[in-house]
Amino acid sequence: MKSLNKNFTAVLFFVIMQAGHSQLSAATGEGYDLDKIMRTMLIITLLFIAFVIWLAIVYSEKNDLNGDNFKRPLKAIKNYMMRLTPLEKEQELLLDHDFDGIKELDNKIPPWFNFLFYGTIIWGIIYLVVFHVLGTGQTQSVEYSEEINQAAIERQILIKTGAFLNEETVVELKDAVALSEGKEIFSKNCVTCHAADGGGIVGPNLTDDYWIHGGGIKNIFTTIKYGVPAKGMISWQTQLDPKKIQAVASYVISLHGTKPANPKAPEGTLYVPPVKQDSAKTL
Ligand code: HEC
Repeated sequence: MKSLNKNFTAVLFFVIMQAGHSQLSAATGEGYDLDKIMRTMLIITLLFIAFVIWLAIVYSEKNDLNGDNFKRPLKAIKNYMMRLTPLEKEQELLLDHDFDGIKELDNKIPPWFNFLFYGTIIWGIIYLVVFHVLGTGQTQSVEYSEEINQAAIERQILIKTGAFLNEETVVELKDAVALSEGKEIFSKNCVTCHAADGGGIVGPNLTDDYWIHGGGIKNIFTTIKYGVPAKGMISWQTQLDPKKIQAVASYVISLHGTKPANPKAPEGTLYVPPVKQDSAKTL
């Protein structure tokens, strides 16, 4: 029994430490919540002290070969909670009525039941005060709307970083900031093949009305994003995030109608933008 107890202690110690550790990392994961860590550590320490005291009581009595002492506290708790009347005293509880030989005992309500009963009432009062009077706790509906707000904020952040930006949703940017960002990206990555003024070297002229893969922001965004690897135009999606592709595509569109120094002859087909679009600018 002793060696079993030792193993048990070791396992319990391990479990407690693990619990403490996971609580700690959970708490630090959400930001450094020292309060939470301290509270958790306090509870773990108290539990551990209680366990050590229990072991001390158990081991203070020698020759416990069956482990009876070890189980004694549990038995004591069980007896207290059930408040069972010993069989030999049952006669005292017998009520004097008798239905067809069925007799009734006047047992006391077991404490575990009373604990539950009064416990729920006390819990209910605490809940009411915390959630509805003081308002320090969040009710389900408040929690829900907070989560919705949080999600909306996260969505805004995602929109800002361009997570929802793709060839279906992209729109042409016309503001100076975006265009100058586009110009910068273009001069860093694209001029070797398309020339600084977009007139074209290895790559085609980007200033004319003719497009191999279609004009307009959506087509141009698609060509830059996925590239045409077979023809020497690489895919840029691993190097440029959607926001940057949008900016450089808008810049490419802004080059339309400019007069490059050495324009390549038009390639592809004449692109006529849909009437709905701002045609004066796109074509
Ligand atoms: C290594 C050379 C090279 C680089 C660098 C390059 N391109 Fe290209 N690009 C090409 C070639 C070649 C084509 C023509 C593909 C074809 O014939 O299908 C092309 C096609 C295009 C087209 C489509 C033109 C059309 O007529 O449909 C666009 C738009 C374009 N490039 C934009 C860019 C942008 C923006 C960058 C920089 C981020 C860039 N390219 C960098 C070589 C390059």
